[in-house]
Amino acid sequence: MWAALRGRQNARMPPRGTKRVAALAEQNERLERELTRRVAELERERDFIATVVDSTSPLFSVLDTEGLVVRYNTPLARLGGVEDRHVRGLPFWDVFVIPGEAADFRRRLYEDDGVEHEHAFRRGDGSTAIVAWAKCGLVDGDGQPRILLSGVDVTERKREREELRASRARIVHAADAARRRIERDLHDGAQQRLVGLALDLRLARTAVREGDERGAARRLETLEVELAHALDELRELARGIHPTVLTERGLPEALESLAVRSSVPVEIEQAPSERLPLEVEAAVYFVVAEALTNVAKYAQARVASVRVFCEDGAVVAEIEDDGIGGAEVSGGSGLRGLSDRIEVLEGTLSIESPRGGPTFVRAMIPVEAR
Ligand SMILES: Nc1ncnc2c1ncn2[C@@H]1O[C@H](COP(=O)(O)OP(=O)(O)O)[C@@H](O)[C@H]1O
Ligand SMILES: [Mg+2]
Repeated sequence: MWAALRGRQNARMPPRGTKRVAALAEQNERLERELTRRVAELERERDFIATVVDSTSPLFSVLDTEGLVVRYNTPLARLGGVEDRHVRGLPFWDVFVIPGEAADFRRRLYEDDGVEHEHAFRRGDGSTAIVAWAKCGLVDGDGQPRILLSGVDVTERKREREELRASRARIVHAADAARRRIERDLHDGAQQRLVGLALDLRLARTAVREGDERGAARRLETLEVELAHALDELRELARGIHPTVLTERGLPEALESLAVRSSVPVEIEQAPSERLPLEVEAAVYFVVAEALTNVAKYAQARVASVRVFCEDGAVVAEIEDDGIGGAEVSGGSGLRGLSDRIEVLEGTLSIESPRGGPTFVRAMIPVEAR
C-alpha cells in the first residue's frame, strides 16, 4: 500500500532533466511578461496622476512635517514663478506667502486637517494672489509622514464678489440720491409754485369780495399760467422718474423725444419696432438719455447719432458723437450708474472715447433669456 502511494506521489512531481528546465524557463518568461505588464501599467498610472496633478488648476504641495518644501505641482510653480527644485527644503511660507501673513500661515499649518484658510501669496510678477487652502497629513511612498497642501487661486472670484458688492452699494446709493433729488425738485419746484398759487388764489378772492373785477381777472390769468407751469414741471419730473412716452408708445418715439430735446442735432438712425421687456426698454432709454446729455454737456460735438437694434438675442444701443472725446466711466457718476444698471441686466457697457474724439458708447443687454 505504501509503495502504491509513493508511486502516485512520484507521478505528481515535476519532470526531471531537460523537461524541468524547459518548464522553469517558461515559468520565468511568463513571470517576466507579467512583470513588464505591471511596470507599464504602473508607469501609465504614474504618468496619468502626474498629468492630472500638473494640468488641473488646484495648487498642490507636499511639505515635510516642519513645513519645508518637498515638491509641488506646475500650477503652483506657475503662480509663484519658481520651480520646486530651486526651493526644496525652504519653509513653504517664506517661498510663497507675503511677509505680513507668513506667521499666521505657519500657525494654521498645524491646525486641524481640512479646515479652509485664505492667505495672500506672492506671484512671480510681484503681484498678490489670494489663495484658499487646506491641508491634510499623509505618508509618502517611502513611509515618511508629510503634509499635503491643496489650494485654489480665488483672487478673481474675490474681486468679482467685491465688485458686485460695490455695485450693489452704488445702486442703493443712486436710488437714495434719486429719491432725495425728487424730494428737492418737488420742494423747490411744484411745491413753491403751489404755495404761490394759493397766495394768488387768496388775492383773487379778496379782489372778488371787494368787487374789483379787473383785479380778479388779472389774478385768475396769473393763476392759469402758474398752474400750467406747475403741471409742466410735474410732467418733466415724472419723465425723469419713468418716461410715460416709453411705456405708452415704445422706444422709437421715446428716443425721438430725447433727440428733439437735445441741443446738439441728433439723428435716430435705427430703433426696434417690437416691444422689449420693460426693464430693458428703460435701460436703453436711460443709456441714450445720459449719453445725449453728456454730448450736450461735454462733447462740443456738431452732431450725434443713435442706433438701437436687436442682434443675437440681445438689444444693442450705440450712441456716437463727433466731439472732443475723453469720456470715462470713472470720470463722473452718470456713466457709472448706467454701467451698474446694465450689469444688473447681465449686459455690458463699453466706451471708446480717445482724446480728440470721436466718442462711441455701446450698451448690450441680453433679451432672450428673460
Ligand atoms: N460724449 C462725451 N464727450 C466728451 N467727454 C465726455 C462725454 N461723455 C462723458 N464725458 C466725460 O466723461 C466724464 C464722465 O461722464 P459721466 O459719468 O456721465 O459724468 P457726469 O455724471 O458728471 O455727467 C464727464 O465728466 C466728461 O468729462
Ligand atoms: Mg453724465
